[in-house]
Amino acid sequence: MSTALRFPAALPPEAHVDTAKYSMRYLLGGEILRWSGPSIDVESPVCLAGPDGTLRRVVIGQMPALDSREALRALEAAERAWDSGRGPWPTMRVARRIGAMERFAEAMTKVREDVVRLLMLEIGKTRKDSETEFDRTVQYVRDTVEAVKELDRSSSRFAMEEGFIGQIRRSPLGVVLCMGPFNYPLNETYTTLIPALIMGNVVVSKLPKYGCLLHLPLLEAMKECFPPGTVNVIHGDGATTVGPIMESGKVDVLAFIGTSRVANILKKQHPRPNRLRSITGLEAKNPAVVLPCADVAAAAKECASGALSFNGQRCTALKLIFVHESVAPAFMEALVKEVDALPPGMPWEPGTKLTPLPEQNKAASLAALVEDAVKRGARVMNRGGGETNGTYYHPAVVYPVTAEMMLYGTEQFGPIVPVVAYKSEDEIDAFMRTSAYGQQVALFGTDPGRISRLIDALVNQVCRINVNTQCRRGPDTFPFTGRKDSAEGTLSVSDALRAFSIRTMVSIASTDRDKRILTDIVTGRMSSFLATDFLF
Ligand code: G3H
Repeated sequence: MSTALRFPAALPPEAHVDTAKYSMRYLLGGEILRWSGPSIDVESPVCLAGPDGTLRRVVIGQMPALDSREALRALEAAERAWDSGRGPWPTMRVARRIGAMERFAEAMTKVREDVVRLLMLEIGKTRKDSETEFDRTVQYVRDTVEAVKELDRSSSRFAMEEGFIGQIRRSPLGVVLCMGPFNYPLNETYTTLIPALIMGNVVVSKLPKYGCLLHLPLLEAMKECFPPGTVNVIHGDGATTVGPIMESGKVDVLAFIGTSRVANILKKQHPRPNRLRSITGLEAKNPAVVLPCADVAAAAKECASGALSFNGQRCTALKLIFVHESVAPAFMEALVKEVDALPPGMPWEPGTKLTPLPEQNKAASLAALVEDAVKRGARVMNRGGGETNGTYYHPAVVYPVTAEMMLYGTEQFGPIVPVVAYKSEDEIDAFMRTSAYGQQVALFGTDPGRISRLIDALVNQVCRINVNTQCRRGPDTFPFTGRKDSAEGTLSVSDALRAFSIRTMVSIASTDRDKRILTDIVTGRMSSFLATDFLF
């Protein structure tokens, strides 16, 4: 048993949320409903310690386990709101949609404390990181509004070509099924939901298995700010709820952040895959490369943080570190020191960096990866590495990792830091060529020649190369995407607006009569499409 982390006997007041007012709620057709059917207990990764030392995960509320009938009712509500593109939301002028979104951003801030506490309780995210997730998401909504204004301004110009006048704008695609992940349940759900909505689409959002209750304080704001059926929020077993929705063939866009395995299942369920646009953020195995010319101490610090922020449960986390053999001993010493200095604790305790894990049986699956590596010749290098206490797994720095070990290719998505000692840069190239993933790489070094050689070798295998800094998604204005099994489509404040829309145009001959018609429509504000609301 780990000595590193102790669970409390009871939750302290600073972690308390009155969940009775949220439990079992869902949003369908503009109504917040209370499900009277079967429920799913929301178990926190935080365990409570009994007097005899036994640990049990604390149940913090209940979610509705909707059946397929109710899931299809949510889809029908969305379809009614879409109304073949004639519904109030898809035809609303951009300025009014923006107004609704601004009201929504404002309403979000009113439930900040409950959402932050639920992030801590449901997924074990530290208070500081939970606050950052919430604030970053509100900022994302506000930045999206500004990006829409800019898009509207730039697309309000008329193009004149070969005797035609054209106005080309971006129109919504239809019904979007949004599914976010547990690790950034609010942020990553909203980075698809918000752009989808603001472009005029309608949404069914199926909440993740972990990190679901925290969405329910926001239902009231959704109900108040958007027309009925524009956004519907459901929960339940994935196969029961999402299966029938996809099989109906009525989903136009799948926005899914999760695993490629599940993405493939969902896409195959659509009877007309040619009609389905998919925007996905999936697994990754982002490597760090510590070059012989690296500032070893700085690289070790950045690698520890890149591998272990939120216990390594980030798609962008560093999941394999290649260190040149010439600096490996010094790097390992510095890395272990950095990892040893990370304080475990409860999410609400100030200074905590390592916390319990939300996924069921996660500690056991991490232990199996480490066991496989140890059996094949690696060692756990840090004090208490791999020790388990209930839902807590103390980070394990594993070295030297080789290509035969599971840890070399499998995404651990948790607190394991596998390190490979390499001789030649060809080994890094070989890893990337054979990897199933292609999101990002982090290079640590000081020699411009070596760095540029690796940039050129790797740039067509990943979508972002970070130099002397860890892999990450932000800033949110930067494109976030990946190759191979890592992603489909690009997300950023402005790219997402494109992902959830299609270019649509009105073309008119440039005769005097037709120019007059066009002028009358625009100056008389007769059309929502042939118009602009944001000249300045
Ligand atoms: O899980 C993937 C997240 O988008 C990572 O975001 O790099 O800002 O932690 P982050």
